[in-house]
Amino acid sequence: HRKYSPAPKVTGFTRTWPDQEITRAPIWVSEDLRDGNQALLEPMTVEQKQKLFKLLVDIGVKEIMVGFPSASQPDYDFVRWLIDENQIPEDVTIAALTQCRDHLIDKTFESLDGVPKAIIHLYNSTSTVQRERVFEMSQDGIIDIAVGGAKRVKENARARPGVDWRLEYSPESFSTTEMDFAVRICEAVMDVWEPTPADRIIFNLPNTVEQVGPHYHADQIEYFCQNVKNRESVIVSVHTHNDRGGAVAAAELAMLAGAERVEGTLLGNGERTGNMDMVVLAMNLYSMGVDPELDLSNPDEIVRVVHECTGIALHPRHPWVGELVYTAFSGSHQDAIRKSLRKQQDDEPWQVAYLAIDPRDIGRDYQAVIRVNSQSGKGGMAFLLERDYGINLPRWMMLALAPHVQAASEKITGELGSPEIRDLLFTHFDRQ
Ligand code: KIV
Ligand code: ZN
Repeated sequence: HRKYSPAPKVTGFTRTWPDQEITRAPIWVSEDLRDGNQALLEPMTVEQKQKLFKLLVDIGVKEIMVGFPSASQPDYDFVRWLIDENQIPEDVTIAALTQCRDHLIDKTFESLDGVPKAIIHLYNSTSTVQRERVFEMSQDGIIDIAVGGAKRVKENARARPGVDWRLEYSPESFSTTEMDFAVRICEAVMDVWEPTPADRIIFNLPNTVEQVGPHYHADQIEYFCQNVKNRESVIVSVHTHNDRGGAVAAAELAMLAGAERVEGTLLGNGERTGNMDMVVLAMNLYSMGVDPELDLSNPDEIVRVVHECTGIALHPRHPWVGELVYTAFSGSHQDAIRKSLRKQQDDEPWQVAYLAIDPRDIGRDYQAVIRVNSQSGKGGMAFLLERDYGINLPRWMMLALAPHVQAASEKITGELGSPEIRDLLFTHFDRQ
C-alpha cells in the first residue's frame, strides 16, 4: 500500500502571502513525560514512563524531555534507569528541566551522570504579572535570576567536558511578557552561554496559558526572530498550550513566523487544557503534502499506549485519529464517498470527497467509513451490500429497499450492519 500519498495541495485562489507555507517538519520535542506527566491526577509509574518513552522513540521523536529530576524522585529514578540501562538510542537526545536555582541545577547535572548528550532546559517566569505579583521583582531582578542560572549551568557543563551538552532557556510566560524585555532577557542568557552557528542554543518561547491567540503569538515569534541578536546561533522553539483551543494553530503559525522547533505531547496531554498535540500537527503537515518525519502509520497503537500510560481516553472525534473521524453517517456524504472511492486509482493522488486522507495511510480501513443508521440514505446501504457481499443493486431496487432500511434503522438506536441490510433485501424481495 502507498505510504505518504496525500491529496494534491488545495489551490484555486491567490493567497495574500503566497511565500508563506510550511515546507518541512519542525524539530519535534516531546513533553509527554514532564508537562504531560505533571498534569496527571495520578502521575505515571516508572513502568508507564518506560512504555511511553519507547513509543516516542519508535515513532521517531528525537528530542525527549524526560522530567524534572531535581524536583521529583520518580523523575530522578527514571533518568537513572534510562542511562544505567542504556535505553537512549544514539540519535535521541533527552532533556531535563530545571529552575534557575543553584542546588536544583547541580542536582539536574548529577542525575545525568554518564549520559553521552543531553539538553539542559532552564527556565524562569518573565511576564508582568509574575514579576509584579509573584516575585515582586523588577525586570533587572528577573534577568539576574536567569543569568545566575545560566552561569551555574555553564559551570556544571564545563566540569563535565566529555558530554555533548545542549542548552535551552525558556522565558516562561513569554507571550504575556513585554517583547523587548523577552528579547533582552534571552540576550543576557546568550551572553553567558556564548553560542555560535555551529553550536546553537535553544530559546523556547512558551505561550504558557494561551493568553494570546495564534495570530498574535505568531507576531510575537516573528518579532523575536527579527530582533534577537546573533539569530544564526539560536534555534527558536515554541511551546504552546491549548487554553483557547489554539495550540496546534499557534504552533503552525509560529513555524511560518520563524520557529524551527516545536514542543508538544502525543494527543495533547499537559497542564490544564493540555500541550500542543504533536499527532494533530504532524497529520496536518502530512495532509498538506509535507513529510511529518514521524511514523504515524499506526495511530491506534499511539492511542492505546497513551491511554495506558495517562489513563486519559481519546475523544471519538479527536482530529485525525478519533474512532469516528473516518465514518460518514449522512446519506449524501456516504453517496459522495462511494462514488469517489470507485473512481480512485491506487497510483494517483488521493481525491475522495469527505475523506481528506486515505484512512489506510494511518492503518485504518474502509470498514469504519460507511455505516448506516436512521440518518443514512441509499448510498451507504448500497455501499455495504456491494463491499461485503458483492451485491450490486440496480437503481430501482435500491429505491425500493431504502424505505425498509430506513424503517428498520428507526426502530433501533444504533447502526444497521450489512447482515441486517442483506436480510431486509432478501425478505422484501422474496415477497414481491
Ligand atoms: O508552559 C510553560 O511555560 C512550560 C515551561 C516550563 C517551558 O511548561
Ligand atoms: Zn508547558
